[in-house]
Amino acid sequence: TADSAETLQLTRTCPYAPPEQHLRLLREQPVTEVRLPSGSNAWVAARYEDIRTILSDPRFSADRRHPNAPRLSGEMAPGESPLPKMMLEMDPPEHGPARRAVVGEFTLRRIAALRPRIQQIVDEHLDAMLDGPRPVDLVRAFALPVPSLVICELLGVPYEEHDFFQTHSAQLLNRAATPQERQHAAFELVVYLDKLIRAKEEDPTDDLLGRQVVKQRESGEVDHGALLSLAFLLLLAGHETTANMISLGTYMLLRHPETLAALRADPSKTPGAVEELLRHFTIAEFAIARVATEDVELGGTVIPAGAGVLTLANAGNRDPEVFADPEAFDIERDARSHLAFGYGPHQCLGQNLARVELEIVFDSLFRRIPGLRLAVPAEELSFKDEASVYGMHELPVTW
Ligand code: HEM
Repeated sequence: TADSAETLQLTRTCPYAPPEQHLRLLREQPVTEVRLPSGSNAWVAARYEDIRTILSDPRFSADRRHPNAPRLSGEMAPGESPLPKMMLEMDPPEHGPARRAVVGEFTLRRIAALRPRIQQIVDEHLDAMLDGPRPVDLVRAFALPVPSLVICELLGVPYEEHDFFQTHSAQLLNRAATPQERQHAAFELVVYLDKLIRAKEEDPTDDLLGRQVVKQRESGEVDHGALLSLAFLLLLAGHETTANMISLGTYMLLRHPETLAALRADPSKTPGAVEELLRHFTIAEFAIARVATEDVELGGTVIPAGAGVLTLANAGNRDPEVFADPEAFDIERDARSHLAFGYGPHQCLGQNLARVELEIVFDSLFRRIPGLRLAVPAEELSFKDEASVYGMHELPVTW
């Protein structure tokens, strides 16, 4: 019953493995009710197949503003968000048109065309690092600015203002911040983007947001709120996530010198390494939240209508039914079907971009700085245990 449910652990014991509890649930209680640290209850699913079912079954709603949507802690209560609904929170029939309006910007072909510019951005940051003092914090010098600059250019957001939105995005994703702090951060970002979009509505620029303005005009469906929530979602989802994967991936490869040597010797292994890193860290599992709209039976257990649902994707990515020897970090395995980008209609819109960025980053970083190493003992590194997207606070490196 609700009262006897065990509390869901959120803190990883090792930088990539899920809490031991999630692995136990995977083995013994793949679908079960838990208590969240916020005090409310939710259902969790840990098996790969159950997670795919939940994420592709329309009986589960993505509406984060539903009163029963799982809230881990400190999240804004429903109704407190200053934002128009984002595609991430939409169900059919609303979700499809919102996603289709922008999906053309993220096709493989469009993203491949960005490669030369991404390479240039990566090289410029590596040049600056190589010219600068050692040791250096890789997060500040490289992992955060590269994807930030890429998403800013794509959207048409002036990068000079990155300090402003990076600070506020980090606050918004910080589980340790109070709901008031998070609401304030969201409000500041909304005010900023509102002004930016109004300027583009006056005078559309040739960037993603400007093109959306033009598209809206052509179709006669001008919707400022939709643009605002799109800009907000892309800015937020587009830099923190990739930045965290850059620092975590660098950390992991530095800790696995043989794998790194194999990668250096044969860059054609990089895409496989990126998939395995994504599987291993599954940084955004707590970004996925659903509500059951009907009773749904999963493997003999009924998730009741109205229940909040979390998918433990990091455990799902270690389901031995799908990934042989799941604990092993093996860049030769085929990890492409991992759940790190979610699954189903909401599966990450930016995944092609994230993959290309990560491939260019790891190839260039280890090629240009072959002697790269940690500048502090691994035990001293600090990970974002309190954030809803996992990552590293700092990564001091030298060479
Ligand atoms: C959705 C992870 C990078 C934009 C998602 C979801 C996950 C995810 C798990 C699904 C959420 C759900 O089902 O409720 C990641 C990871 C990334 C990454 C691990 C980096 C390694 C990006 C980038 C962008 C982006 C670079 C944009 C440029 C989005 C958007 C959605 C989304 C717009 C919502 C899609 C929808 O609701 O239809 N992401 N993401 N993401 N992501 Fe990403």
